[in-house]
Amino acid sequence: MKFFLDTANVNEIKEANSWGILDGVTTNPTHISKEGRKFLDLVEEICSIVNGPVSVEVVSTESHGMVKEAEELSKISDNIVIKIPFTIEGIKAAKILHEKGIKTNITLVFSPSQGLIAGKIGANYVSPFVGRLDNISEEGIELVRKIKSIYLNYNFKTEIIVAAIRNPLHVVNAALIGADIATMRFEILKMLFEHPLTDIGLQQFLEDWKKVPK
Ligand code: E4P
Repeated sequence: MKFFLDTANVNEIKEANSWGILDGVTTNPTHISKEGRKFLDLVEEICSIVNGPVSVEVVSTESHGMVKEAEELSKISDNIVIKIPFTIEGIKAAKILHEKGIKTNITLVFSPSQGLIAGKIGANYVSPFVGRLDNISEEGIELVRKIKSIYLNYNFKTEIIVAAIRNPLHVVNAALIGADIATMRFEILKMLFEHPLTDIGLQQFLEDWKKVPK
């Protein structure tokens, strides 16, 4: 499973990258707005740090505008993946971009039928938002399971990015289903490393080591 950071914060991206387990980054307009920096400068810097896909979202709502934005953004770096909201206009744009060889990530996906369409048009990535479904009392992870089955049935190559992850269990369940990627906030990535028994065990080993004659 690939791990992506869901952020536009360069310090978090640098830190996770230094751990050797960062495979990519997903941004969105909300993440970008929190950084208070010029959009293109920020995207350029993120691409210079990460050795992997960097999703950047378009903000036009009709397909021609989306394609134009995508063409401009894709000039920044080979890492760029264009994030497109799941709408009819978005799907039209993604189809055009696919034909132009520009990579796409279909975002704001909340149903298996949306996942099916993203796979059918040859999007590179699809992003089901599990945590936001949990928030409305629906099992978000079940959506990932259904999209995975559909893609296996039809041999679709679209990679599933499990998004809106709220805890390590979301990541583990996504891995058990065989989702390709989990994108998560920095704090959740850090939580994946943590276990109190590891800390207690290490402390004990270090204490005992002090008793060894040297
Ligand atoms: C995914 O690519 C999105 O950026 C992200 O996961 C949004 O989720 P959230 O705002 O509900 O955390």
